[in-house]
Amino acid sequence: MDYNYLKINSEGAINILTISAPKSLNALNTAVLSEINQYLNTIDFGTTRALIITGDGEKAFVAGADISEMATLNQAAGEVFGRRGADVFRRIEQLPIPVIAAVNGYALGGGCELAMACDIRICSTNAKFGQPEVGLGIIPGFSGTYRLAKLVGMGMAKQLIYTGAPIRSDEALRIGLVNAVYDQTDLLPAAITMAQQMAANAPIAIQLAKECINNEYDLAADEAIAYETVRFGQCFATEDQKNGMSAFINKQKVEFQGK
Ligand code: CAA
Repeated sequence: MDYNYLKINSEGAINILTISAPKSLNALNTAVLSEINQYLNTIDFGTTRALIITGDGEKAFVAGADISEMATLNQAAGEVFGRRGADVFRRIEQLPIPVIAAVNGYALGGGCELAMACDIRICSTNAKFGQPEVGLGIIPGFSGTYRLAKLVGMGMAKQLIYTGAPIRSDEALRIGLVNAVYDQTDLLPAAITMAQQMAANAPIAIQLAKECINNEYDLAADEAIAYETVRFGQCFATEDQKNGMSAFINKQKVEFQGK
């Protein structure tokens, strides 16, 4: 499939989605969001074991939702635009494979929100994160108020959202918004190495672990623990579990089939 705003590459079982709208620092407008949505429909989960999302160029991951598109929206259209982004990001969050954001520059507004919909964020030293929306007269609209508070706690989320002030990569690392910081040239290789490490493990187990971590968070303790126990049991219905454990016992290497 041909895209105007996306570049798709793969490294073995790893897909790399690069958002590429260089004139606007990879800002997300309706067309870009709809291409991401289309791309998500094409992923073959039988062969793809992890996804990396990054931005084109050395300056920006994604500089936000497209301000020129939003400038003339009325209330109803604003809600539709917000829902469009929120739905695409929720799909990313719920993909049955790990998703790593390789944040290679500005991750502002919708860019920070896109990174937060991914399972894991790593970034380059020049990356800047922020939710500058209130300086434009709006609030984060692609689920940033929800996910930022979850990731860094309410106090820090409120500081970032009320001030709109961007933070650098070292501060993003300190508050736990990213897991690691790399030189720009080392960022994508590091993301690929991490993705390959994940891809070598049992895919159904990873999918179930992701479901548990994502869905247990908002549950009460007893419900969350029961939710995990059921999925732990489900692992024993897979060939991967049989093969993984028998390989361990027989001191062999295992290649998981995702069955
Ligand atoms: N939307 C539309 N265009 C954007 C954009 C955005 N979010 N961010 C950058 N651009 C465009 C600029 O308008 C500029 O276009 P022209 O060359 O045609 O003038 C081009 O990208 C390059 O940007 P700058 O010249 O501004 O580059 P800079 O290096 O001086 O500054 C920047 C970089 C600090 C990221 C600055 O571009 C900026 O502040 N961008 C806006 C960031 C922002 O406010 N993002 C949040 C948007 S609201 C949102 O995301 C809502 C939501 O939650 C859903």
